[in-house]
Amino acid sequence: MHIAVIGSCNVDITVEAQRRPHAGETVMGDRLIVSPGGKGANQAVAAARLGAEVYMVGCIGDDDYGRIITDSLKESHVHTDYVFTRKGTTTGTAHITLAEGDNSIIVIKGANAEVGPEEVDRAWDMISTAEIVLLQYEIPMETIDYVVKKCAEAGVKVLLNPAPFADTPEEWMEKASYITPNEHEAKLMFPGMSRSEILSAHPDKLIMTIGGDGVAFAHEGEGEVVVPGFKVPVKDTTGAGDTFNGAFAVARAEKQPMKDAVRFANAAAALSVQKIGAQGGMPWRSEVEEMLSCKKQEF
Ligand code: RIB
Ligand code: NA
Repeated sequence: MHIAVIGSCNVDITVEAQRRPHAGETVMGDRLIVSPGGKGANQAVAAARLGAEVYMVGCIGDDDYGRIITDSLKESHVHTDYVFTRKGTTTGTAHITLAEGDNSIIVIKGANAEVGPEEVDRAWDMISTAEIVLLQYEIPMETIDYVVKKCAEAGVKVLLNPAPFADTPEEWMEKASYITPNEHEAKLMFPGMSRSEILSAHPDKLIMTIGGDGVAFAHEGEGEVVVPGFKVPVKDTTGAGDTFNGAFAVARAEKQPMKDAVRFANAAAALSVQKIGAQGGMPWRSEVEEMLSCKKQEF
């Protein structure tokens, strides 16, 4: 049983500051942190630390940043056979400002722009036998389209994490087994629809993260279900959504029922936000189990 993640590898260049500068202004910051990230690599690391066999499919540049990423993937036991090194391009980067209690991010695609159908084909034997395939929107949309259709034909489950937000064709929503927008992304995806309309249109498929309130989805025959999040001190929410997605995929691959899977993923995400960096703080299996067994601190 294995999980495939097809997506981005970034190095996150984070500055911590008291506040973010206005246009044309310069402010002094407190600290610079360079750490592995990218929605794809983050989800792969999250899933692997929770005990799944995980393969990452992506592209990095032939540079030191690329090595930061592969080192981190390997340390978390993610298979890197399908992480292709591209000469003449730079590794993707995310330029993150951590200020005023929240992050803002600019992503430069770099080598992530080169994750194409050819890379998917090279990894196809692995992808086609995966329990579930995870996709996010930091690689070309043509590639997402290619994977969604090919997986549907082959009967392989796809989890579609529509982040950062981009237009999502109806066909992808039909073919995906899970769609995991946050509340903001969901509103953009379904303009004019209320939360309960959005959820009930895709029971047991559309899983909406609603920040501090937890996670909502519609359960066949039961209507809207809200699984509350865990109350924890927050240091850095970067990568919390990725941790949720990776963990949820692991739990569903293990056939955990929906509510249990969401609770498991909530616990993993709550642990991840307590340390700086997308992958810093992403828990190992035992930490999540401990949180689920002894802490009753849901909202
Ligand atoms: O989801 C968090 C990630 O988004 C960061 O690690 C950064 O790389 C951006 O792509
Ligand atoms: Na973190």
